Amino acid sequence: MGYGDVQMIDENGIRVDGRKAGDVRPISIELGVVPVADGSCRMTWGTNEVIVAVYGPMEAHPRKIQRQDRAVLDVRYNMAPFSTSDRIRPGFNRRSREISKVTSDALESVVLLELYPRSKIRVEIEIICAEAGTRCVGLTAASVALADAGIPMTDLVVSVASGKINGVVVCDLNKSEDNYGEADLPMGILPNSGELSFLQMDGDLSQEEFQEAWDYNMEAAMVIGGYCAEALKNGGYNL
Ligand code: CDP
Repeated sequence: MGYGDVQMIDENGIRVDGRKAGDVRPISIELGVVPVADGSCRMTWGTNEVIVAVYGPMEAHPRKIQRQDRAVLDVRYNMAPFSTSDRIRPGFNRRSREISKVTSDALESVVLLELYPRSKIRVEIEIICAEAGTRCVGLTAASVALADAGIPMTDLVVSVASGKINGVVVCDLNKSEDNYGEADLPMGILPNSGELSFLQMDGDLSQEEFQEAWDYNMEAAMVIGGYCAEALKNGGYNL
């Protein structure tokens, strides 16, 4: 049986976890979960769970990493060894380095780094439980934790990955859809302006399918941006 033969959406358009094509998995957000940090956030998104802690701004060490005109963002994405069924070997690997880099780049577009020359802001993203889309959950939770730390920002970054399964474009892929689907399009969106700060693509999408996945990501980001704003106002969302 090839990957394309795994049936993931039925004749009524219902996916394996009961969602319709445009549905996002349930989300909850809790702030201040790491009391020693300057800002922190726990986000659950379907079966994904992430904790993000933010420290800073602080003096950047070693001095060679300092920038005279702005702060540097030190972002580390890590999957806990117990976060998936195959134990993850502790320490950085190629994938975690890549995700840390794209997350840092996406956050740089919203954080007002020029307010803190020669400083460092440390953002630690720890995946506790992984079920596809962890780069999206990590990036979204990181932007909320930065806001919780009181770091000046022009907007949040909300990230969602839509894609294609059995020829159908669907929103917010889960693990089996990510594994056996035909394409994956994670995007980082600024919910207030609708601007983009991050986009990756895996697999093939026609121009129409790309547009459909783009629209799903945009719509979802606006809704999730509302949850994040509510969490920042009230200390949490859907707890
Ligand atoms: O998590 P995300 O979709 O952003 O990244 P991915 O590289 O497409 O990984 C998809 C999923 O595969 C992860 O969310 C994990 O559930 C799983 N995974 C794993 O089990 N072991 C790894 N070393 C990497 C990913």
